[in-house]
Order: sequence, then C-alpha cells, then structure tokens
Amino acid sequence: MKRTPFDPLMVFLAIIPLHFASSETLPSMSPTKCHEQERSALLEFKQSLFHPYVETCSPSKLESWRLEDDNCCSWEGVKCDEGTGYLTGLDLSESCLFGPIDSKASLFRLPHVQSLNLAWNDFNFSQIPSTIGSLVELTSLNLSLSKFGGQLPSQVLKLTNLTSLDLSWNSMLQLRNPSMETMVQFLTKLEHLDVSWLNVSAPVPDAIANLSSLTSLILSDCYLQGTFPRTIFELPRLQLLDLSGNFELSGHLPKFHLGSPIKSLSLWMTNFSGNIPSSIGNLTQLTMLNFALNILSGEIPSSLGKLIQLSYLDLGMNLLSGEIPASLANLTNLTSLDLRDNQLTGQIPAEITGLTRLTHFDLSFNRLTGPIPESISNLESLDFLNLQSNNLNGTLRLDVILKLQHLYMLQLSSNEFSSIIEPGMNASLPNLSVLGLASSNLSELPIFLSYQSRLQWLDLSQNRIYGPTPPWFLNVSVSQLQFFNLSRNSITSFTAFKWLNLLTLDLRFNDIQGLIALPPKSIEFYLVSNNKLSGEISSEMCRLSSISILDLSKNKLFGVIPPCLSNLSNSLLVLSLSGNDLYGRFPQLQNDLCELRMIDVSDNQLQGSLPWGLANCSYLEYLNIENNQIVDTFPSWMGSLYYLKVLILRSNRFHGAIGEPEARDQFPNLRIVDLSMNNFSGCLPSRYFNMWSAMKVHTADDAHYYGMHVPTFYGFYTADDAHYDAHYYGIHVPTFYRFSPDDGKYDYSMTIINKGILLEYKRILAYLNVIDLSSNNFIGEIPNSTGSLTELRMLNLSNNALIGSIPLSLANLTELESLDLSSNKLSEMIPLALAQLNFLAFFNVSDNHLSGPIPQVNQFRTFENDSYGGNLGLCGVPLTKKCGNSIEAPPPPLPYGALAKKFDWKIVLMGFGSGLVIGVVIGLNMTSKIERWFLRFYRGWQQRRMHQIRFV
Ligand SMILES: *[C@@H]1O[C@H](CO)[C@@H](O)[C@H](O)[C@H]1NC(C)=O
Ligand SMILES: *[C@@H]1O[C@H](CO)[C@@H](O)[C@H](O)[C@H]1NC(C)=O
Ligand SMILES: *[C@@H]1O[C@H](CO)[C@@H](O)[C@H](O)[C@H]1NC(C)=O
Ligand SMILES: *[C@@H]1O[C@H](CO)[C@@H](O)[C@H](O)[C@H]1NC(C)=O
Ligand SMILES: *[C@@H]1O[C@H](CO)[C@@H](O)[C@H](O)[C@H]1NC(C)=O
Repeated sequence: MKRTPFDPLMVFLAIIPLHFASSETLPSMSPTKCHEQERSALLEFKQSLFHPYVETCSPSKLESWRLEDDNCCSWEGVKCDEGTGYLTGLDLSESCLFGPIDSKASLFRLPHVQSLNLAWNDFNFSQIPSTIGSLVELTSLNLSLSKFGGQLPSQVLKLTNLTSLDLSWNSMLQLRNPSMETMVQFLTKLEHLDVSWLNVSAPVPDAIANLSSLTSLILSDCYLQGTFPRTIFELPRLQLLDLSGNFELSGHLPKFHLGSPIKSLSLWMTNFSGNIPSSIGNLTQLTMLNFALNILSGEIPSSLGKLIQLSYLDLGMNLLSGEIPASLANLTNLTSLDLRDNQLTGQIPAEITGLTRLTHFDLSFNRLTGPIPESISNLESLDFLNLQSNNLNGTLRLDVILKLQHLYMLQLSSNEFSSIIEPGMNASLPNLSVLGLASSNLSELPIFLSYQSRLQWLDLSQNRIYGPTPPWFLNVSVSQLQFFNLSRNSITSFTAFKWLNLLTLDLRFNDIQGLIALPPKSIEFYLVSNNKLSGEISSEMCRLSSISILDLSKNKLFGVIPPCLSNLSNSLLVLSLSGNDLYGRFPQLQNDLCELRMIDVSDNQLQGSLPWGLANCSYLEYLNIENNQIVDTFPSWMGSLYYLKVLILRSNRFHGAIGEPEARDQFPNLRIVDLSMNNFSGCLPSRYFNMWSAMKVHTADDAHYYGMHVPTFYGFYTADDAHYDAHYYGIHVPTFYRFSPDDGKYDYSMTIINKGILLEYKRILAYLNVIDLSSNNFIGEIPNSTGSLTELRMLNLSNNALIGSIPLSLANLTELESLDLSSNKLSEMIPLALAQLNFLAFFNVSDNHLSGPIPQVNQFRTFENDSYGGNLGLCGVPLTKKCGNSIEAPPPPLPYGALAKKFDWKIVLMGFGSGLVIGVVIGLNMTSKIERWFLRFYRGWQQRRMHQIRFV
C-alpha cells in the first residue's frame, strides 16, 4: 500500500469508525409476529424504491423481504416490540434504495418506529419528505451519505425524542431554515449529532452548549464560520468533538477541567489560535488528539504527558515553539506522533524512544538540532519516520536507524549531518519503500541501497555524489522503483536504465556527459537539464509514449529536433530544449491532439518559420522561442490560444507589421509578451493593447503566484495541495510522496530584461505583466490605449523610431515598476502626472527629443543622469542644465550635499507582493542623497522579494 505522510483522507478514515459507531446494528430475528398493515407498508416501500440493478448496489437486506413470508419482524433490518409486535426499528442502510421518497410513502405508516436508518442509499438529491415529522417516537435517525438535497424540512423539529441524528455526508442538504441553531433548540435530548460534510455555512450556535446529554458532536467540513463557543468544550458528557476541516472557524482553547469525559478531540484544519493551555493535562480520558493545521503558538505544555491513554497525537502545522517536552515519554500507548511543521527547537529527547508502540513518528520541518538518538532503534514498531528539514547534525547513524525492520518510509532529507555510517552487509529492509536522503552530505551512492528490493521512491538530490553511477546501482529495486531524484549532484555519467516501472527521473544539475540515456518506456517525467550531454536527440525518444515532461535544456545537444518528437504532442505537457545547439526547423506538429502546456526552445539556432500546428495546442500557456533564427511574421494565429500567458519571441528574425487582430478577444490571458530584438515594423499594436485583458484585471492578492495541476493518477491529495493550490507558472511532477509544497513542482522559468538588466526568473509570478517591444523598427506614436493595461509591471519600448509625446495615459499604469522609452524620437515634456507612479523604480527616456523640466517629486527624485541623457531640451535635477525660469522649473527640494537640512517625509508603499499594505513613515533628518539611496535600496529589496529573481 502506498501511503502519504500526511493524508487527511487517512485521518478521516481513522475517525469514521467512531462516527458510525452509534448506528446500532439491529438483530434480524424476533419471535414476535408483525402487524399485517406494517408488513404491507414495508413491502410497498421496497416495491417503490428498491433498485437492485443499480451499478453501485451490492446484495441488499431487502432481498430477504418476501411477499409469502408473514412474519416481517424476522426480516433483515426490521425490529419489532416484543409485546405489541409493532415495528420499532428499521435499518435500511446500504439497501440499494434509489430515487425520491414520496411524502405519502408507506414508510410513514410505521408510527411506532424509534430507530430509522436510511444511510448509504441514493435518494437522488431529493428532499427529505416533510412527513418524517409524523414519526414522533423516533429516537434515532440516520440519513448519512444518502444523497438527500434541498432544505432540511422544519417538520424534523417535531422529533423531540431524537437522541441521535446523523445527517452527515449529504453535501447538497441545507441547514438554513430551520438553521442548526433552531434545530438544537428543539431537539434538546440529542446525545449524538453529526452534520459533517453538510453545507452549514453559519457560526456554531451557542445553544449547542445547552444539549446537556450530548456525548458526540461531529461538525467536520461543514463550512462553519465565526468563533467556536468555548462553553461547548465544557458539556458534561461530551466524549467526541470533531470540528475538523472548518478552516474559517476560529477559536481559542479553553481551560480544561479535571473529570472532563472527552476522549477524542479533533480540530484538524480549523483556525484556532493562541496557546495550548497546560490544563489540557486534565483531559485524562483522551485517546485521540488532533490540533494539526491551526495557528496555535507557544510551547507544547509538558502536562500533555499526563494523557496516558493517548494513542494518537497530532500537533503538526502550527506555530509551536520551544522544546519537545520529555514528559511525552509517558504516553506509552501512543502509536502516532506528528509534530511536523512547527518551530520546535532543541534536541529530540531520547526519552521518547521509550514509546515502543509508535508506528508513525513525524518531526519534520522544525528547527531541531543535535543527533538522532541512538536509542531510536527501540521504536521497533515504527513504519513511518520523518525527520526531514531540521538542523539535526553530527554523524547520521543509518546503521542504527535501519535496525527498524518495519520501516516503510524513512525521510531524513535536509538536515546538517556531517557524515554517514552505513549498516553492515545485507541490511535489507523488507518493507522500505520510501527513502529520502536529499541534502544529507553524501559523497557517494550508499552501498546499503544495493540490498533494498522494495524501494519505490528514492530522493538523493542535493548531495555531493560524484563520478559515474556504479553498475550495481542500476539493479536497486529493479521492478519497484518509480520515482528517483538524483538532481544537484556531480554525477558524470548515467548511461543505462534497468528500472522497469520508472515514472519520474530527475537528473538535473549534474555533470553528465555523453549521449542522452534512453529511459524505460514507462517514463513520464524525464528531467536532465543543466548537464553536459552532447550528441543528437535520438529519434528513439519518440517512442516514450507516456512522457509528460521532457526537459533536456541547458546541455550541449546539437543536430535537428527529430521530427517524430511531434508525435508525442498528445502526451507531452512540457517540452524544454532550450540552451542547446539545435538547428534546423522547429518540427511541424502532426497531431491534431496537442496537450502541450509549455514549449521552450530558446537559445538554440532554429531556423525556418513557426509551425502552424501550434495552433492545435489549445492548452498552451508558455511559448519561448527566444534567441534563435526564426524568420516569420507576428503569429496572430496564436491569438485564439485561450490559455497563452507567456509569449517570448525575443532576438529572432520576425519582421513586418503586427497588424490588426483577426478577431475579437485575441490573447485574452497574455501577461508576458516579449517581441524585442526583431525587425517588427509599423505602428505599435494599439488594438491588441485593448484586447490583452489579463493585463488589465487585478490579480487577487491571495493568489499572487500562479501555476497549475496536472491530474495525476498516482499522486496523492495532501493538505499541501489544498493550500498551495496554484502558485507559480508551472506544473506538478507527481511524486507519490509530497513532503513540502515545492516537492514535485516543475516551475517555468524565463529570462527577460527588467530595469535594463537581463534577469533570469526561476519562477514566474502570476501578476507579472510585461510588454517588451524594444529594439524593433516600430514607428508612429505611443497609443493612448497603452494606458489601459493598468496592471503592467514593465513596459519597454526603447530602441524604436517612436515619435510624438509621452502619452498622459501612462500615468494610469499604477503598478508600473520599469518604464523604458529610451532611444526613440519622442518630444515635448515628461508629463508631471507620471510622478504618481508610486512603484516606478526604473525610468529611462534617454536619447529622445524631450524638453522642459524634469519632475521633481516622488519617484523622480530617485532617478539619475542616465535616465535623461541625450535630450538636449531637458533641464533640472539631476541634469546640470538649470531650467530657465521658475515656472518651468520649481526649485529642487534639496541641493546635493546639503547636510543636516531638516525635513520630514513619508512613503506609503502599498500592495507589494502579498497585497499587504506596508506603511513606512519616516521622519528623519536626511540629505537627499540618503533619501535617494534609501528609496533605491528599499525598492530593490521589495522587488527581490517580489519576483524571487536571481541575477544572471
Ligand atoms: C416521545 O416518545 C414517547 C414514547 O416513547 C411518546 O409517548 C411521546 O409522545 C414522544 N414525544 C413526542 C413529542 O412525540
Ligand atoms: C486543570 O489543570 C490545570 C493546570 O494543569 C490546573 O491548574 C487546574 O487546577 C486543573 N483544573 C481542574 C478543575 O482540575
Ligand atoms: C493502553 O491501551 C490498552 C488497550 O490498547 C489499554 O488496555 C491500557 O489501559 C492503555 N494504557 C494506558 C496507560 O492507558
Ligand atoms: C512520567 O510520569 C511519572 C509519574 O506519573 C513522573 O514521575 C515522571 O516525571 C513522568 N516522566 C516525565 C519524563 O515527565
Ligand atoms: C550540532 O549543532 C549544535 C547547535 O548548533 C552544536 O552546538 C553542536 O556542537 C553540533 N554538534 C555537532 C556534532 O556538530
């Protein structure tokens, strides 16, 4: 079985038995003979809803109900009162019932029924019939997972004898009128209430705290809002409380009292904050405690060590700090301890290794230091051990850890081990399937791997492993290995494959030389960029019919791209061949079916024109042709590619006028367009500017990165997926174990000129909107429509033959950080309105025919000579030419070198990156040089944070 380290579904499954524990099973035999009218009511009900041929139906108890059998009390699922013979219990769960229940259904002619169970049927999203209110003797009603829809009928409020009500897993069922609040005001005898996976969308009513008989309350995943009433924790009989999955529900933990009967408490993925009170130690009955995925802070109280009945403890993904209390060593019944993703410091207490029942132990993503205690080998039952991403140091004693014979998953990546001691000969772990030793200071492939035959997932990336791969290594887990990451090492050759079922191979950033090795046909993700591969791309590659990502970029490959590669366009999502010496034509795409999302052939020597077949790639998001010798005109035919976001044609031989769009709504999602260094001519594409609507709409602050998922049939859904839904442009490489949000993420990258400097973007943020049309032969004026692209971050029109004035409308580009209009023939004044561009950090209008005064406010106080040079008519600071009169040139606020002149000023920077409003208010004595320096520094810092760039 494949498992994930953190799988909400598994947590959920672990809770299910508790949820359903209360739906009692009814005895099928009863000596009492039933009443004829009830018998016929049952048969009629069966007749109307029993659909044994529905696909999902398994043999049903209703098959035992026969016309010729008089004693309905002996039928399966039926229970009668021994004295009166009236039917009191009906369990029709999982009975292949299908379709709506009529409000006149014979079911409602069973007036003495006390327990009714219709769970796990399919009522086709119909309403719960209002006549349910006539069954006034009901004490237990279970409608879980039965596909009821609509509003819960108010007649349910008549069922005041109910002690158990389970409406869970009916996602279309609404609790509005009556609301949950009204419901609990009427049904005051409730002991068990389950409305999980219902659309409640309301605060938790305080009135629940009045249900003094309540023993289990399950409110998971029902969109609760507001603050959770603390008094509910104090209900005198409450044993089970489950609020998990209500991420909008905030709250604080209360002071817990001694004698509380709570046995199981799950606040998984809610919004609880504050400390874990030390009074938690009073909950001595607890067996299950899950506070994971909240924003709890402070230390882990050592009183937790008093909860000796605990078998499951999960405090992961909070903001907990301090050391791991040694008192946890007293929790001898613990089987699962998950403290991952906090800010815990100190060492792993050796005492914890006394918890010999532990099967699942996760301390990953903390700040733990020191060694792994040698006594860890006492944890004999352990099958899952994750210590990834801490600061554990010293010698990694694998000889000790690998004594744990049940280990299924061992993840030790990203610590600070200085050396490694391997186990002796034949240390084979029969179950070891997942092994992470990334960033573990390994200098060679650990020999103990040769004894492992069950490995499916192996991560050895970011080590110092050098040289050729030894032959024995290719035999490691030959039939099992599916995922292998050896990236960022110093491997010099990798020539053959024996792994029969390999899906993902990541060899990026090594020193691999020679020809590209052909991976097995099972391969889906083959990443070998940033090596020293040479030779041609063999047409054998075209036989990898399952391949989704092929990344051969930044090698020394030469020759032509095999034309047959285009046959893969219906499986390939990403094709990256950039940074090689490939020449010849870009292959025509033969396939009508093109699934490609990303094509990068930049930095090669491709010739000819763009293949029209690209028009079939209707999901294409990213196309980078930069730095080739493509001869073509503007590909207006790509305008219909709805998802296209990045189009980079820089430095080729494109020519001619861009022309008018061929239809409406062309390139609706384009955000980055770089046509620079070509021979485009004619006017700037004003009508396109009007259409590029993605550059006009503000991207939601909480989605400031962008990317996408690829459906993965063997990927697991983890909490991380939910949280890191789509951040950068890129796609996920499915790895069936995701340990951090970035694991298995394939980011798109690009190189563009920003602020006059060639920058490599390792990842591309969604809100980055760029137009670079520089170094072409564009003529005419800058169209006013440029000002409609209000979300532009960078605009570069330099090195053309543009005339006229700088349009005032550019002042609408309020997000603009970089504006380069240099080396054109622009005339007249620099519009003062541009001074309202608060984020402008780079401004260049040099070598034009501009005249008049330079604005002297805001950002304009930070630009220096080189922004303005070569405009004979410009005057004012920072140029030495003084302006003629005071109307033209207001005096600069401060001359250079004026020391200790007092002034106060204020910058308010808004909307940076996260959408936070950062207000910096400074009242200092500054010279304008310091002011300039500060502004530059501050903006530079902000922007580095924003784009996560790296200088080339
Ligand atoms: C509750 O059940 C009892 C019988 O157990 C019945 O007499 C009574 O009427 C029921 N209560 C209501 C409000 O119907
Ligand atoms: C609960 O625990 C706290 C701290 O451990 C303690 O001070 C308090 O007296 C306890 N309360 C009760 C009612 O037992
Ligand atoms: C541990 O669990 C067992 C049942 O698995 C139970 O009998 C025992 O009392 C528990 N021990 C403690 C200290 O709670
Ligand atoms: C474990 O419990 C015992 C008694 O209940 C206590 O004396 C001891 O200090 C506890 N151990 C730790 C490490 O807290
Ligand atoms: C491990 O790190 C701690 C804290 O940084 C340091 O005090 C200790 O000397 C280190 N131990 C080894 C063996 O490097």
